[in-house]
Amino acid sequence: MVKEKVNRVVVVGTGAVGCSYAYSLVNQGVVEELVLIDVNELKAEGEAMDLNHGLPFAPASIKVWSGTYKDCNHADLVVITAGLAQKPGETRLQLLEKNTRIFKQIVKSVMENGFDGIFLVATNPVDILAYVTWKESGLPTSKVIGSGTVLDTARLRFSLGQYFNVDTRNVHAAIIGEHGDTELPVWSHASIGIEQLTTIIEKRSDVKKEHLDEIFKNVRDAAYHIIERKGATYYGIGMSLVRITKAILNNENSILTVSTYLDGQYGQRDVYIGVPTVINRSGIREIVEIDLDETEMKQFAHSATVLRETMSSIV
Ligand code: NAD
Ligand code: LAC
Repeated sequence: MVKEKVNRVVVVGTGAVGCSYAYSLVNQGVVEELVLIDVNELKAEGEAMDLNHGLPFAPASIKVWSGTYKDCNHADLVVITAGLAQKPGETRLQLLEKNTRIFKQIVKSVMENGFDGIFLVATNPVDILAYVTWKESGLPTSKVIGSGTVLDTARLRFSLGQYFNVDTRNVHAAIIGEHGDTELPVWSHASIGIEQLTTIIEKRSDVKKEHLDEIFKNVRDAAYHIIERKGATYYGIGMSLVRITKAILNNENSILTVSTYLDGQYGQRDVYIGVPTVINRSGIREIVEIDLDETEMKQFAHSATVLRETMSSIV
């Protein structure tokens, strides 16, 4: 009998983000095998035990265990959520040095064990650490993905849904650029249902550009607002990572604003940054190059420059 291939995901870093992702993955029945790794082995072990006790109520059967880097050999996806998180007031870019050191060691351990799947990076600063993962792994850029602005895009869609009082799923809008302070909204291509946002602003006197600017500011600064209140963010990113995982493992060809390597697209080179990207079982199938307006193009170029300059200090 031919043994059926099972989907295996390895999560490196079983802190708040890694565990929110794992919990959401189990609850959505996305994979058959889930391996948890952390430098704090007891923590990973305890998390695996706890998750296993919920399995009788999960929608599909799944094997969960705390493992080692040897388990990466048969993995389809390694999701890295390990490292330090922002303290109140700290920017994502300030985490760079410490998390780069941690990443070099993690990626080396994964690759030493014959990994040939896809990396999904969530640790901050995510765009730069996706770049570090690509460089250190030697894998093609299509197989190294950062969570990018998928979470920011979700935050924008949620907030616009509230503003227009429509289902979030009918809000088509995106944040691109750095997952951080220089990100930008693509208002020129946003729509509510099938009506262009630019048309809605012209037509309706109650919808004002200033309101949208305020919504964007709150989205951009959402992490700071949440960290001030509860110390960290993790549910939103956990579910965003599951969304990306599904797009990969189910070969969906979904368009998501992940962080990917640009080689001339949007006029930028040698940078990992959030842009709309088609994702399937092979990882990044292609980058979707939309016509940004002049202001958006300038803002995007600024965001890419900030990332490239920050990166040059460590790579
Ligand atoms: P956390 O402190 O709760 O967890 C981090 C975990 O990493 C800990 O369990 C720690 O033991 C582990 N770890 C540290 N070094 C390790 C190593 N060398 N090998 C294996 N494990 C190691 O932090 P968190 O709240 O889960 O945040 C994790 C990261 O995710 C942070 O950098 C945070 O900024 C980032 N984050 C990103 C997004 C996003 O949208 N991309 C959203 C939220 C948080
Ligand atoms: C976020 C993290 C902190 O929630 O990057 O946006």
